[in-house]
Amino acid sequence: MTQDELKTLVGQAALHYVTPGEVVGVGTGSTVNKFIEALASMKDRVPGAVSSSEASTARLKAIGIPVLEANEVGELSVYIDGADEIDPRGHMVKGGGAALTREKIVAAQSRRFVCIADESKLVQTLGAFPLPVEVIPMATARLVRQFAALGGQARVRLKDGQALVTDNGQHILDVTGLRITDPLAFESEVNQWPGVVTVGVFAHQKAAVCLLGTPAGVKTLNF
Ligand code: A5P
Repeated sequence: MTQDELKTLVGQAALHYVTPGEVVGVGTGSTVNKFIEALASMKDRVPGAVSSSEASTARLKAIGIPVLEANEVGELSVYIDGADEIDPRGHMVKGGGAALTREKIVAAQSRRFVCIADESKLVQTLGAFPLPVEVIPMATARLVRQFAALGGQARVRLKDGQALVTDNGQHILDVTGLRITDPLAFESEVNQWPGVVTVGVFAHQKAAVCLLGTPAGVKTLNF
């Protein structure tokens, strides 16, 4: 099975976690795009979605699902999103699609985070994937030095030769060379560095369930 087929498999499997009649939280990325495609089959039973990015909003609207503001709804029962890495305890690295801040906001508003991923995303220790961190541009140079002190090399993410600008008008640092052995402590520490908007470690908002796409089918990991 190709990686794309594994993503389709978990995108479809995630429909079982959508409660008919309830608003659903929707993440961002190529795996979530498969989920959104599958969600079209339930669109008459889904009153709306809270979206984590302009890209997912456009896809949800295209299939006829109303997109609601996070502030208009209360707690969501489920948030469905992909990951760049997930460890055996459900901690994740996210933000490869630059949507990490809104992803963390919608995840925090949801009772259960259901992660959908192909098996390549499962790792023993987070950090091999360059860690995305959304930052206020004026703090960039100091934050690069702060990551260097932890042994990381931080680079501003570029798009078309310019610093990428997120949906929130900020920049992304991608940090290589880290080995994140204590995700909770790491997230807490980096979160309080001035100029950090969101660090792409999701340990406080970790997954409750991971639907992992494997050639043998969908493996369900409960954390
Ligand atoms: C988006 O900002 C990310 O957090 C995605 O959830 C993550 O990069 C996974 O994306 P794919 O499903 O495209 O691998």
